[in-house]
Amino acid sequence: MKLYIANWKTYLNLNQEIALAKKFAYETNSANQVVICPSFVSLYPINEILKNSPIVLGAQNCAPITSGPLTGEVSAVSLSELDCKYCIIGHSERRQNFSESNDIILKKLELLSDQNITPILCIGESLIDHESNRILETLKYQLDIVEQVKKLKKLIIAYEPIWAIGTEVAAEPEYVEKIFSYIESLMLKTKSKISYTLVYGGSVNEHTAKELKKIGQLGGFLIGKASTDINKFLKIID
Ligand code: 13P
Repeated sequence: MKLYIANWKTYLNLNQEIALAKKFAYETNSANQVVICPSFVSLYPINEILKNSPIVLGAQNCAPITSGPLTGEVSAVSLSELDCKYCIIGHSERRQNFSESNDIILKKLELLSDQNITPILCIGESLIDHESNRILETLKYQLDIVEQVKKLKKLIIAYEPIWAIGTEVAAEPEYVEKIFSYIESLMLKTKSKISYTLVYGGSVNEHTAKELKKIGQLGGFLIGKASTDINKFLKIID
């Protein structure tokens, strides 16, 4: 069983997200676990739509505080009330565009763990890191925070090389395999017993997914653009 996480980012408006969620609920009949992560405004109506379906709801982000003066954010407590089982954190689009630091992401990890929401922690190197051979140290730095969360039991680690996101060119399976082995070696060194799943993200489509599925350690995919089209999404699963 693999995990297929749809990150709809900000591609769709409210009505489009609701319509797409209905298609997902109706047409996804899979032995795999499907998670859809719409925008905040759609969480409430989509939770109602998914109630009798095997699809699970996730959020794209959460506030680094439980309650307080932080305009424009949504707390992990609210996400839990909305039945979110997963939440994406540390996405490169947030690290880059909103200057999200490791400290902020650590706070989010803690707050999600308190709510029993499984964090989908995104890590991945930039093109500059990639070309200057700083890949492993970047990944290590981004993963180091995991050990500091006492209550963290379950985690999805999404390896998303930034240079592969939205380019139609995914990383080569052999390359991802090496990175996964490195992540596994880092996780082995952590003292805490965290159960984790490795997923890949970055230009996953029906063609790239076919090759990437050969990776032994692959637990699933984090899918951006292609997940906003039900036919493309179903082809990835097949
Ligand atoms: P794309 O699948 O559009 O490349 O996006 C990947 C991603 O950022 C998922 O979180």
